Amino acid sequence: MKLKIALLAGDGIGPEVIDQAVKVCDAIAQKFNHEIEWMPALTGAAAIDSVGEPYPDETHEICINADAVLFGAIGHPRFDNDPSAKVRPEQGLLKMRKKLGLFANVRPTFTFPSLIEKSPLKKERIEGTDLVFLRELTGGIYFGERGRKDDGNTAFDTCTYTRSEIQRLAKKGFELAMTRSKKLCCVDKANVLESSRLWRETVQAMEKDYPEVEVAYEFVDAVAMRLVQWPNSYDVLITENLFGDILTDEASVISGSMGLMPSASVGAEIGLYEPIHGSFPQATGKDIANPLATVLSAAMMFEMSFGLHEEGGLIRKVVDQSLAEGVVTEDLVEAGGKACKTSEVGDYLATKIV
Ligand code: IPM
Ligand code: MN
Repeated sequence: MKLKIALLAGDGIGPEVIDQAVKVCDAIAQKFNHEIEWMPALTGAAAIDSVGEPYPDETHEICINADAVLFGAIGHPRFDNDPSAKVRPEQGLLKMRKKLGLFANVRPTFTFPSLIEKSPLKKERIEGTDLVFLRELTGGIYFGERGRKDDGNTAFDTCTYTRSEIQRLAKKGFELAMTRSKKLCCVDKANVLESSRLWRETVQAMEKDYPEVEVAYEFVDAVAMRLVQWPNSYDVLITENLFGDILTDEASVISGSMGLMPSASVGAEIGLYEPIHGSFPQATGKDIANPLATVLSAAMMFEMSFGLHEEGGLIRKVVDQSLAEGVVTEDLVEAGGKACKTSEVGDYLATKIV
């Protein structure tokens, strides 16, 4: 099969972890007789520096001509500490999500038996955890009206949702639940927010179309608490953009390291695959970042964009092998243990794909 993949390495550790995913994908292509055309493009601070804009039109052109996008990370501390910056790397990510119609962000949290002791939570609380968040990605407070008034002394951001935005996200949630344990949790703040009441009303109205799915409605504050108490009680969760942003960071460390969890953003034809972690500026260029989240994002790409499940499965298998054999970066090494470099983990994974 011919696979056209836009490659957006981005900022910070993005290029380093993307390099490892490329090694792994190339090894997969060789084994299964696929031909990958990598289409590199600029994004984030790197794009601001070279063309003054974090998601340039040329990059968008490359993305829409690809079958899928593999993305590293975006963000740079020099913008974080400057609230007055007019152009910011993160704007590129938001623009890209909007322009590519990526309204559903799929963020799984699962555990690896060999890492169970690395979790900040007790073993008996996390064993068996296998949940997926579907975070709405192109609406809500991220894209609502915002501004300043009263001579700059008052600021506002607005959370707006339409029924159809909620329906299309919830539909994906119900469909995903049907392929799993048929349990769906709608996370909102319907005791306070009108937009949340519209979420709840819309999802309730859809229940009759999926009679086998058992739907629970929970408030976001309670979910934040239960996620650390009983993460294994959840299966598929749907939620709006900002709640999803916060809860998926919380959920991502349950497995033992933030460097492990992949994600997919889908909606229209093109899917985008990226690690949940950010650009980790402190580690940039040191060859120490964990590449597994990006490699697992590539597995999701094979499965979800190309329907290549055997390929995705093999990537997951060699990742499990690297963890079991202790071929891991320093975030996963016990005190006194030996850490591998980012590039060594990538090399190991690629050579195990035979
Ligand atoms: C994420 C990130 C982004 C978000 C930032 C970088 C804009 O935190 O993908 O979760 O808030 O959506
Ligand atoms: Mn986030």
